[in-house]
Amino acid sequence: MSRVTTRQIRNWREQERKLVMVTCYDATFARLVDQSAVDAILIGDSLGMVIQGHEHTLPVTLDEVIYHCRAVARGSSKAHLVGDLPFGTYQGSEDEALANAARLMKEGGVQAVKLEGGLQYAELVARMTRAGIPVMGHLGLTPQSVHQFGGYRIQGRTLNAAERLKQDAHALQEAGAYAVVLEGIPATLAAEVTEGLEIPTIGIGAGGACSGQVLVLYDLLGLDERFNPKFLKKYVNLNDAVVGALNEYADEVREGSFPSLAHSHH
Ligand code: KIV
Repeated sequence: MSRVTTRQIRNWREQERKLVMVTCYDATFARLVDQSAVDAILIGDSLGMVIQGHEHTLPVTLDEVIYHCRAVARGSSKAHLVGDLPFGTYQGSEDEALANAARLMKEGGVQAVKLEGGLQYAELVARMTRAGIPVMGHLGLTPQSVHQFGGYRIQGRTLNAAERLKQDAHALQEAGAYAVVLEGIPATLAAEVTEGLEIPTIGIGAGGACSGQVLVLYDLLGLDERFNPKFLKKYVNLNDAVVGALNEYADEVREGSFPSLAHSHH
């Protein structure tokens, strides 16, 4: 089966069909995502937090994202795959950024790249698009700017900030971006941005009016009991399910009921 394409994603916007995206970082979960009704997988630099245990996404390298992209590509065959360009891989020269994006596609096996920022990267996005590299933008609470923001704070709350964000979204669209993630902004602003654009918006902590939604897979599966932001809905509590299963295993080993005859070779 062929993968969901950028063209389908643009068409769905016109047809008002919501795009559903999750992050994913390995082949086992990619196989599960592919069995579900989810359309797209972002191999996000959030892997720095949920896989590597860092406090933010900044330490993640291009080689690490490529490694996880390859695992996800091997585990799935139908989801649209987007690889995140990590901090420092596109903020320098455009030539270097193009080479890094091309590596992500060639070696990672993804169909598109994502980068954080708007107007300041419009020319870069245009160059990537001309080079055959589909670009997904990312605006609002862009995690790579956590230190500039002074923490994970909702963006676009003032009139000026909201206006700047709208300009950024339009600059990305004009430059050729095929979709844009809106993260951590008021729902009313996300609705206005979505209304004003032709390309789809994909929200996370940006209300229900976006053309689609994205969540970090481990968050929606409830794998971390400590992480409970307002925007997050946990669809299952795997934190407790996993700890429960491990405790049951430990109890059975200690009391001698595992392995039983049924789990032994004869
Ligand atoms: O890295 C990531 O997972 C992301 C999403 C939260 C949009 O950028």
